[in-house]
Amino acid sequence: MLNPEQFVVLVGLMGAGKTSIGRRLADTLGIPFIDTDEEIVNAAGCSIADIFEIYGEQAFREVEERVMARILSETPSVVATGGGAFINDQTRDLIARHSISVWLKADLKILLERTKRRDSRPILKAGDPQKILRELMETRYPIYAEADLTVETGEESVSDTLQGIMAALETLMPTDGAKPNEV
Ligand code: S3P
Repeated sequence: MLNPEQFVVLVGLMGAGKTSIGRRLADTLGIPFIDTDEEIVNAAGCSIADIFEIYGEQAFREVEERVMARILSETPSVVATGGGAFINDQTRDLIARHSISVWLKADLKILLERTKRRDSRPILKAGDPQKILRELMETRYPIYAEADLTVETGEESVSDTLQGIMAALETLMPTDGAKPNEV
């Protein structure tokens, strides 16, 4: 179904489920899975929280941009991006050229619930997480909306979301795996 040169890149806010769903999607599609935050941690040799604290957010964004460019130049895979990656113009452009992008869209309640489970996200420690997430929804949702596909995620199981993504991918590539505008 997928063009063998194409990546599937999951975008969306923290807590949308990009990593857990990405892993399952990669298994289903039979291609590798890459988590960009994990790649950044490996490249930097320290945690994301430490990168923010020691070097600042700007430095994190620069590493993120480089890591994304590297990943998208390698073997096609399912890529779970950090919530800010798709907001970078250059990264978004690269994603558009090399991949089918899928926005995992969730409402505030779900995002809050899920992000509460881990306290590893420095952005949410800067103040009231609910207020920060609401502001990020306002600024980022119009940009995430540029993804090729949007799949809503909520209380349903990972398997149900996965089915939604597979069905959405099918609609985009019904025949030979090319995006409609490339046929
Ligand atoms: C960020 C999201 C995080 C991580 C970093 C910044 C963001 O990734 O990249 O803390 O700006 O939204 P997840 O979306 O995987 O939590």
